[in-house]
Order: sequence, then structure tokens, then C-alpha cells
Amino acid sequence: MRLYHLLVAFPIVSGFQLPFQLPFFNQPITQEPLPPVPSRRIAIIGAGAGGSSAAFWLGKAQERFGLDVEVDIYEKNTYVGGRSTVVYPYENTSLPPVELGASIFVKANKNMWRAVDEFNLTRRDFREDSSGMGIWNGESLVFTAMGGWWGIWDSVKILLRYGFHSPRKTQQFVDKMIGKFLTLYSVETPKWDNITHLSSALEWTELLTQSTSDYLASEGVSNQFIYELVEASTRVNYGQNADGMHALAGAVSLAPTGASAVEGGNFQVFEQFLNHSKANVYLETLVKSISRSASGQWQITSDRGSETYMAVILAAPWHSTNIELPADISSRIPAQPYVHLHVTLLSTTLPSVPAQSFSLPASTKIPAMLLTTFDGARNGGTRPEFNSLSYHGAIREGEFVVKIFSESRIEDAWLSKMFEGQVGWVHRKEWDAYPVLPPTTTFPDVKLAPGFYYVNAFEPFISTMETETLASRNVVDLLLKEELQSGICGSAELSGEAVEDYVYGWDC
Ligand SMILES: Cc1cc2nc3c(=O)[nH]c(=O)nc-3n(C[C@H](O)[C@H](O)[C@H](O)COP(=O)(O)OP(=O)(O)OC[C@H]3O[C@@H](n4cnc5c(N)ncnc54)[C@H](O)[C@@H]3O)c2cc1C
Ligand SMILES: *[C@@H]1O[C@H](CO)[C@@H](O)[C@H](O)[C@H]1NC(C)=O
Ligand SMILES: *[C@@H]1O[C@H](CO)[C@@H](O)[C@H](O)[C@H]1NC(C)=O
Ligand SMILES: *[C@@H]1O[C@H](CO)[C@@H](O)[C@H](O)[C@H]1NC(C)=O
Ligand SMILES: *[C@@H]1O[C@H](CO)[C@@H](O)[C@H](O)[C@H]1NC(C)=O
Repeated sequence: MRLYHLLVAFPIVSGFQLPFQLPFFNQPITQEPLPPVPSRRIAIIGAGAGGSSAAFWLGKAQERFGLDVEVDIYEKNTYVGGRSTVVYPYENTSLPPVELGASIFVKANKNMWRAVDEFNLTRRDFREDSSGMGIWNGESLVFTAMGGWWGIWDSVKILLRYGFHSPRKTQQFVDKMIGKFLTLYSVETPKWDNITHLSSALEWTELLTQSTSDYLASEGVSNQFIYELVEASTRVNYGQNADGMHALAGAVSLAPTGASAVEGGNFQVFEQFLNHSKANVYLETLVKSISRSASGQWQITSDRGSETYMAVILAAPWHSTNIELPADISSRIPAQPYVHLHVTLLSTTLPSVPAQSFSLPASTKIPAMLLTTFDGARNGGTRPEFNSLSYHGAIREGEFVVKIFSESRIEDAWLSKMFEGQVGWVHRKEWDAYPVLPPTTTFPDVKLAPGFYYVNAFEPFISTMETETLASRNVVDLLLKEELQSGICGSAELSGEAVEDYVYGWDC
């Protein structure tokens, strides 16, 4: 209640870049009765990483200073998590679940990391590395290493094939990106209503305006390194080649040192975001249209009927939602193609793919994680049939689960040929997985209209679970500032810096 009172007394104490620190805790607290605040409603559309975390951030503000808003979250699916969800081999819940969408995050992803800790979930290292990694070009294995992706960077094999300069320059490029990225968790985090401006504040414009390959080439990284190791990572992470994708996305693809996942499924973070919010969650509820109401608020029409809101947070890529919007708003959302990705999960009793399946000599050991380069095809060779093909551990004694990402459907006949008929369970899913990410300087508006915010404007900049939680944090901050003269942290933020491993939004 104290904080609430101070919010009323100092409506601009919201952390929105005050040029000075208010001596907040030294202020005498006055005892006047609090003025009544009208009840207000906020709608969130989508219960994936973006929408569930938006509800969580609003919940934090409600908790911190008694913010009087009612939050409704609409989700058309039967489950929470969106592009982050699991399936069970043979649909048998006694077997370990397998991620069907987003699978990893890293320590620099401070919201995901913190959420796992706060919600008492279990993190596990992502160990696909035990039986090596290889890069397939459609005709041959151009590179193989023991250890696997996360362990190879300092290996002798890398040094021998690519020399010293290229791997080192590439690592510096990634480290520099991560250094800037981490400022988004500090008290001084930039706050943005324009992603182009955010990009300049982070000094990433140079990365966004060039392809990954052009940028790295200008840093003196060899083409061989770019079109083998770097492209292997852009293809497994974003289904795109190094010469088509901006260098910021390239750096993000190369970042997964210390990759982790949540035991039992990453979606649990998003479920817990909702459990720790005060939002009303409406699953299996399709939003059909959003229009302006007579009172200047927003009217949402869904399977549940019509409801009026002070503010709307759209947390799904608009073009995939089929939501009807007023023309002046829809015309402000530029077309955004997504990579249409085929995910094929299967189980097999073969502990690795036989070399003969790739028409390689029988003595060749096929690594557990196969990544690909497009460079063979680029030079007139055969396209790889998949973007990645990797073993993800045993589902029970003698039976392994394999995950394949590809641009087109993987047929049963192909699976049968590759795994010599030893295929048990097969599960296929097509996703509009991530934006097509060509170099650019323009992004959708974060604020589509007064009181109407768009979380997924962030995706063509960076598309990950974590960055959706950052995009939603920013949107909630903006909304609270514009609609309620507050901010996500109220005035508590001013005490923030003393906290060890401070994370903006959590520690304030
Ligand atoms: C195969 C795959 C692998 C990936 N790997 C990784 C990874 O390893 N690490 C990582 O960080 N990211 C990864 N990603 C990307 C990551 O999944 C996304 O960036 C992130 O999950 C997007 O979250 P979101 O909440 O913005 O969108 P979504 O998760 O798409 O959520 C949007 C929600 O809105 C709902 N919705 C849509 N329209 C309506 C409507 N009209 N009414 C009601 N509800 C609606 C949808 O059902 C959905 O649940 C991967 C993605 C895929 C597909
Ligand atoms: C599910 O898997 C468990 C563990 O392997 C097994 O004991 C059980 O029989 C399976 N259930 C079905 C319905 O197949
Ligand atoms: C997590 O566990 C700790 C210690 O056991 C406990 O104090 C805390 O309340 C738990 N948090 C949640 C969200 O369950
Ligand atoms: C969290 O909410 C889900 C529904 O979204 C529910 O099934 C689950 O039991 C809840 N978990 C906890 C720990 O409250
Ligand atoms: C964002 O900033 C850029 C560069 O200043 C500008 O061109 C663009 O119009 C801005 N977008 C919005 C929505 O204001």
C-alpha cells in the first residue's frame, strides 16, 4: 500500500530514465487515505513466451504497488506455451517428453534462467554432444568433431581446418553481442517504442544491415569457416543460410554456449508465469477481431463473446492470427514471412545412423548431431535433405529419439531407408517457426495505436523465447507508463542496484 501511495504521489517515479535518483526511502510516508482508482481491464492475446510473460510482468506490478487492473489472456490452443511445447513418444506419458518447438536457452537469457530458479523447475544441460557433431553438405561430411557443438570451439580439429583467426574473430563477434544484450537487464536498460532506435542504442545497426556472411567476411573470417561452422548454426537455429540472414541473428545462432533446457519441458516456465500472475486464462478461445469501442477503448470479439478493454497486448505474429483489425492499424504491420519448418520426431533402435544410409564407407562413424551447410548446393551440388538431424538420448533401454528439421516433409520411405526399417514412433509437426530474417533497418511498431501494443514486433530483430519475455517486459512498462503513469517497477526500481545479479523487472 505504501508503494501504491507513492505511485499516486509521484506519478512519474517510474524508472523512465529519470536524470537523477530520488532519495525514495528517505521520504516521510504520509498517512492520507488513498483515492479510489477505477477498475480497468487489459487483454493479452496469445499464451506463448510473449503473452504468458506479459501477464507475469503485469502481475508483478499488481503485487508491487497494488495496481488495480484485471487481466484476461486469450489462447486459441488447448495448452500454454505456443511454439514451446512437448510431445511424448508413442503418446505415452511414462516416457520422457521431447521438445517439439523451442528447445534451448542460455545463461545470458536472464529471465528464463531466473524463472527456472524462482519456480523451482529443474534445468538440465543440453547434452547432445556426447557422440560428436558433423556437418553434412548433401554429399559428404565436410567436418566432424568429437564432443559436439558446444565443446569444439577450442579443439585442435577446428584449428587445423580453419586456422586461428576465423574462430577467434567469430567468438569475439558473439561475445560483443552478448555484452550489449546483457545491458537489457540492468537498471539503465533502454526502453523502446521503436526497435530501430533500440538497435542504434545497442550499436547493432551494423549487424542488422548486413548478412551474417558479409559481416563476418568484412571481419576477415574465412569463407570456409562462414559456410561450414557458422552456416551450420544459422541453419539449425533459424532454418536460413548465412548469406540470407542478418548478422545479429547470426550472432544469436552462434551464442548457445552452456545451452540448457527445463526438465520436463520449457513450456512449464510459461505455465508458471501464468500461475504466478493474477490473469484469467482462457484456453481454447480464439480471438476473431479487435475494434475501437464507442468509449475509445478496445473491443475484443472471441469465442467468449465481446469484452471491452483499456489496453490490448497482442502476443502472437499478427499475420498468423486471422484477427481482424481496423484498417488503419493492420496497414501499419508490414508483411512478415515466416520460415515454414517441418519437425519430424522418431524413435529408433539404431544407436546412430548407418554410414551406408549416406552412401559413405561403412567404417565412417556418423555423429549424433548432424548439422548442414548449403555450400554444396550453392556450388551446384545436391541440397541437404534436412537442416539438422540429431539424436536426443534414449527414451528407454535400446530405443533412441531423433529430431529432424527440414524445409519439406520427410516421408516414411526416406526414414525407413535411413534407419534400415528400425523406426518405431514418428511424429510430424509443421511450424511457422521464426521470421525470415534478411538484413533490414525497419521493424513493425511496438505500439500500433494508443493502448494497443505488439510484442511480436521484436521477432524480426531477435526471435527466441527469452527475447519475447524482454519484448513483453518493455511493452508492459510502456503500457503502465502511458495508461497508468506508472512503470513495471513503480518506484521500487530505485533500490535496485544493490542486488547481486540484478535482473530488471524481477529485482527492480
Ligand atoms: C522448431 C522450433 C525451434 C525453436 N528453437 C528455439 C530454441 O531452441 N530456443 C529459443 O529460444 N527459441 C526457439 N524457437 C523460437 C521460439 O519458439 C519463439 O521465438 C517463441 O516461443 C515465440 O513466443 P511467442 O509467445 O512470441 O509466440 P508463440 O509461441 O507463437 O505464441 C503465440 C500464441 O498465440 C496464440 N494465438 C494465435 N492467434 C490467436 C488468436 N487469434 N486467438 C487466440 N490465440 C491466438 C497461439 O496459439 C500461440 O499459442 C524455436 C521455434 C520453433 C518453431
Ligand atoms: C508406456 O511406457 C512404459 C515405460 O516404458 C511402459 O511400461 C508402458 O507399458 C507403456 N504404456 C503403453 C500404453 O504402451
Ligand atoms: C521453491 O522452493 C523453496 C525452497 O524449497 C521454497 O521456499 C519456495 O517457496 C518454492 N517456490 C515455489 C514457487 O514453489
Ligand atoms: C499451473 O497452472 C496449470 C494450468 O495452466 C495447472 O494445470 C497447474 O497445476 C498449475 N501448477 C501449479 C504448480 O500451480
Ligand atoms: C522508428 O525510427 C526510424 C528511424 O528514426 C523511423 O524511420 C521510423 O519511422 C520509426 N518508426 C516509428 C513507428 O516511429
